[in-house]
Amino acid sequence: MLVGLGGNNGSTSVGSMIANREQMSWRNREGTHKANYFGSFTQSSTIHIGWDGKEQVYVPFNEVIPMLRPHELIIDGWDINNANLYEAMCRAKVFEPELIDQLKPYMEHIVPKPSIYYPDFIASNQGDRANNVIPGTNKQEHLELIRKDIREFKKTNDLDCVIVLWTANTERYTDVRSGLNSTADEILRSIEKNVDEISPSNIFAVASILEGAHYINGSPQNTLVPGIVELAGQHKVFIGGDDFKSGQTKLKSALVDFLVSSGLKPESIVSYNHLGNNDGKNLSEARQFRSKEISKSNVVDDMVASNKILYPDGKKPDHCVVIKYVPFVGDSKRAMDEYVCSIFMGGRQTFVIHNTCEDSLLATPLIYDLTILTELATRISYSVNGSEWQQFHEVLSLLSLLLKAPVVPPGTPVSNAFMRQYGSITKLVTACAGIASDTELQLEFFTK
Ligand code: NAI
Repeated sequence: MLVGLGGNNGSTSVGSMIANREQMSWRNREGTHKANYFGSFTQSSTIHIGWDGKEQVYVPFNEVIPMLRPHELIIDGWDINNANLYEAMCRAKVFEPELIDQLKPYMEHIVPKPSIYYPDFIASNQGDRANNVIPGTNKQEHLELIRKDIREFKKTNDLDCVIVLWTANTERYTDVRSGLNSTADEILRSIEKNVDEISPSNIFAVASILEGAHYINGSPQNTLVPGIVELAGQHKVFIGGDDFKSGQTKLKSALVDFLVSSGLKPESIVSYNHLGNNDGKNLSEARQFRSKEISKSNVVDDMVASNKILYPDGKKPDHCVVIKYVPFVGDSKRAMDEYVCSIFMGGRQTFVIHNTCEDSLLATPLIYDLTILTELATRISYSVNGSEWQQFHEVLSLLSLLLKAPVVPPGTPVSNAFMRQYGSITKLVTACAGIASDTELQLEFFTK
């Protein structure tokens, strides 16, 4: 269930899933395109299993152990705007017209469920979009209504597993303090007392947990406050976040890893973005931009900490993030990065990267992956030295590969480096299949 179903990511997620299921193809001026799942780690990547003496053996990630396919998902959700998904898809300007025409009969009858709107949390420029709002201001009643939606969705579709994923507008940060949300009891009490500082995403997270549905935060705000983490533990429900790692930050988490692993020292990283979709409009206000700035900022920390030769005093590179709203470019986001490194003998090396692409076509595959991996995690249990079988920690840090600012169990390290994160998931999946992990040693090639 997507919160923000009528947004660019929401409508693209539903449309792409249908286009793949129905094996649609469409023309644009470059030729004919077929629906695919490029950019989805679970659907389009392979795992290196080993060398069989004649050739390298690579197996599709989703064939190593049983895993859901995106077109097996049933997607529904909420939006504060009442556009049906055909209208939402046209508004998003992500798909080509021929594909939109084919999707129309599948999409026009899907109307998002009314949602919770507390204007203080998203940008004021979103006010004119809010025409599909659950009435009233009573947060406890709002919680009950969202819980009812989740229950009914599960029952009507006869589902084993429900995952609620926030892909709605970026909210401002909420305060985190004792008495408000630092324990499960506190957050439940704060909702009951209708405290102003409880955000819509807090309500969705709590509603999901109380209904046994897993909750993932695809936006940067700090929804997963300590009280929500505790509540998830009590109800044995997974939570994951924050903020899809789709474009600029994904590249950064791979490039800085490569630079530092090469012994080059990034000194300055400056990242400009401009985009013209509704996400960009929302981020044009200071408090919402601040949430994004925070989630984009810490991505190089673990890589800097990994190398005391380059960073003996732990001083991080200068790192600056700028985001501007430029309506004309629509969903086609521009990300421009300059990396300056210190190299051998006092030299400098500068990389300038210009990245242009439809934002939602990068984020949507991650929505499928987050969902598929979360469902997969519900079917994995482990036992240490014959102890009782248990499930993973409720904070599902396994999802880190797909998230900019991974939330991890208290006291555990955050890993942002792309290939470490990739290794963690692929090795888990091969271990589950009983296949010895590839050490990447490649000893077979340099021994006689
Ligand atoms: P969007 O603005 O097109 O869609 C968001 C939708 O959420 C809108 O339809 C809006 O009406 C709705 N909404 C706002 N508050 C709501 C509430 N309380 N309940 C239900 N619906 C609500 O934005 P887009 O492009 O789909 O992005 C969604 C989120 O994903 C943003 O927070 C963005 O920062 C985050 N994100 C997107 C990435 C990408 O597209 N590549 C990458 C990383 C994060």
